[in-house]
Amino acid sequence: MGPTLILIGFMGSGKTTVGKRVAHDLGWEFYDTDLLVEQEEGASIIEIFERGGEVAFREVEELVIFRLLDEVIGKSAGKVVSLGGGSVTIENVYRRLLRESLVVLLNEDVETAFTRALNGERPLANDREAFRQLYAQRKDKYRAVAGIVVQTQGKSISQVAEEIAVKIRKRKDKD
Ligand code: S3P
Repeated sequence: MGPTLILIGFMGSGKTTVGKRVAHDLGWEFYDTDLLVEQEEGASIIEIFERGGEVAFREVEELVIFRLLDEVIGKSAGKVVSLGGGSVTIENVYRRLLRESLVVLLNEDVETAFTRALNGERPLANDREAFRQLYAQRKDKYRAVAGIVVQTQGKSISQVAEEIAVKIRKRKDKD
C-alpha cells in the first residue's frame, strides 16, 4: 500500500510549494485541496467567500477532503496531499486527521507566514492582528493532529522537503 502524506499548517507556511517538491522528490502524486475546491465550484476561493461566506467554503472543503482521502488512501502509489490551513477547524476533518498516520505540520513563524499569505487570494489574510489571532486559535489543533512537525523558519524549500523525506524514512524504519 502506498503512503499518503498529508501536509497541514497555517496559511503561508509553504504547504503547496513544499508539497510539490516532496512529491517530485519521492516520485509521488501531488494534490492540493484548495485547488480542488476551486475546481468543484468553478470559482476562486475569494469568489466562494464572497458568495456564501466562510460557511459555504468549509462545506465544499469538507466534501472535497473526504472524497480525496477516500480515493487516495490505501492505493498503490504514494501521494502528497496539501490541505487548506483552515481544514482543522472542520470538526469531521479534524477527527479524521487524528486517525491518519502520516500528518506533517509545517510550522512557520506567523509574521513570515503573513507576509507570504498576503497575495490577494486569501480572504482570511488581510489584517495582521486578525491573522495572528486566527493562528493562536488554531495552533493546538495543528499540533494535536500532526504526527511529524517540521520547523520551517529560515529554511529553503529543498531543506524542508529533505527533512520531511528523512522523517518519513525514519518512521517507516520504526514500523
Ligand atoms: C484558509 C486557508 C487557505 C484557503 C482559504 C482559507 C484558512 O489555504 O483554504 O483561504 O482558513 O486558513 P492555504 O492554507 O493553502 O493558504
